[in-house]
Amino acid sequence: MSEPKVWAKKSTFIFAAAGSAIGLGNLWKFPYMVGENGGGAFVIVYLLCVLLIGLPLMMSETIVGKYSHGNAIDAIGVTAERSGASQGWRGIAVLSMVVIFIILSFYSVIAGWAFDYTKAFMMGDMGHSAKEVGAYFGDLLADPKRLIIWHTVFMFLTAIIIARGAQEGIEKALGIMMPVLFILLFIVVGYSAFATGAFGKTLTYMFSPDFSKITPMVVINAMGQAFFSLSLGMCVIMTYAAYMRKDVSITESSIYVSGLDTLMALLAGLAIFPIVFANGLDSGSGPGLLFVTLSTAFTQLGTMGTILGVSFFFLVIIAALSSSISMVEPFVKWCEEHLGWNRFAVTFLYCFAVWAFGLITVFSFNIWGKVDVLGTGKNPFDLLDFVTSSICLPIGGLLVSIYVGWVMNKDISREQLSTLSGALFGLWLFVVRFVAPVLITIVFISSVLGEEKMNALIQQILAIQNEPLLVLTLIV
Ligand code: TRP
Repeated sequence: MSEPKVWAKKSTFIFAAAGSAIGLGNLWKFPYMVGENGGGAFVIVYLLCVLLIGLPLMMSETIVGKYSHGNAIDAIGVTAERSGASQGWRGIAVLSMVVIFIILSFYSVIAGWAFDYTKAFMMGDMGHSAKEVGAYFGDLLADPKRLIIWHTVFMFLTAIIIARGAQEGIEKALGIMMPVLFILLFIVVGYSAFATGAFGKTLTYMFSPDFSKITPMVVINAMGQAFFSLSLGMCVIMTYAAYMRKDVSITESSIYVSGLDTLMALLAGLAIFPIVFANGLDSGSGPGLLFVTLSTAFTQLGTMGTILGVSFFFLVIIAALSSSISMVEPFVKWCEEHLGWNRFAVTFLYCFAVWAFGLITVFSFNIWGKVDVLGTGKNPFDLLDFVTSSICLPIGGLLVSIYVGWVMNKDISREQLSTLSGALFGLWLFVVRFVAPVLITIVFISSVLGEEKMNALIQQILAIQNEPLLVLTLIV
């Protein structure tokens, strides 16, 4: 094998991984998931998932990638070989490539909305009241042609970046864009805090959980959201870690990445909910939340609002692009390294396939909106989103934790986590071996048992022990 390609700067892994993690998951999905899943109840479960499952798993994926410097399939292959384990474990990476293919297909359609909004703010097409903005959004979703145009633009840009092997480009662009996104989000939070008069209500809504609202569905969704937002379970972080320099600490980087990602999600919530409450909008309105509420606030701010609107949605596009490229890279890297195919051709073929699959999502917002797939009560997009985010990502995470915790030779992780003290390493291993897999499994069993039985069980536990946090810790 030739010299492994690594990133020029120490900080690049953090930027690239944070770029992958921070995206629509934080700005678009997190707030509406909070709104649909009981507010603070969702937030607390989400934070626990990030801490107890997300962070340790991010470290696990990073270890495998950094050790082997190859595409995810071979990375698992190499570590499995050294561990005397079956090459069948490479199947984890193969499966994940299928799942991210589907995720990217809808991700691109949603990111397309941000293009449309950037243009609308520039042209002043957005209107001035919540009603007008709502109508604008409704019209966009009802128009497959417009959705397809922006979906095409987004997939095309993704393809161009990846085809050029843009590691260096990513580094530079993200170094500027991410801080700007952060500052803009802060400005909106500032506006929401001071101008809406509903900031206190938002704080209560998000941070003082009503524990009775923690249902199995809330837990499943929170866990899926944690995986989605941190780009976990799909060997994406593993792929990026392959470019990591030897002298970069896995633990530190993982803490930074998950911390930044969580901060962005919380800020998005703090920016959006005050506007929702102040305008009497519905916090449980689903995928339209970001696009209707935030835009409503912007339209009321005159020229300032136009500037904020254009820059905000432009940055949503950037955040989405830095995530979408991370979903294309695993497959392309594998084809390039393993099959020796031309990077350019593979990228465009792959992106075209994703684009075509994305049409399912496009039509889910209009002509197929009322289609109930297999009696699930979900339209095709809702079903694809639920199955991939809430089911496949945690299963991917479960497999990774079993592989790294139980199958892979412990020496590999000890070597890679050399900066950790013995006790901390032991703690990490314990979490990866027991806590993460057990928690993920419990969540799944509860979903199989069904909401009602599980609710009854939870209520029983709560009755005995009126301190749910304690119960969670006990389970752990
Ligand atoms: N984490 C990204 C976001 O929050 C989306 C994403 C990128 C992703 N890569 C992924 C989700 C891999 C799941 C798996 O927008």
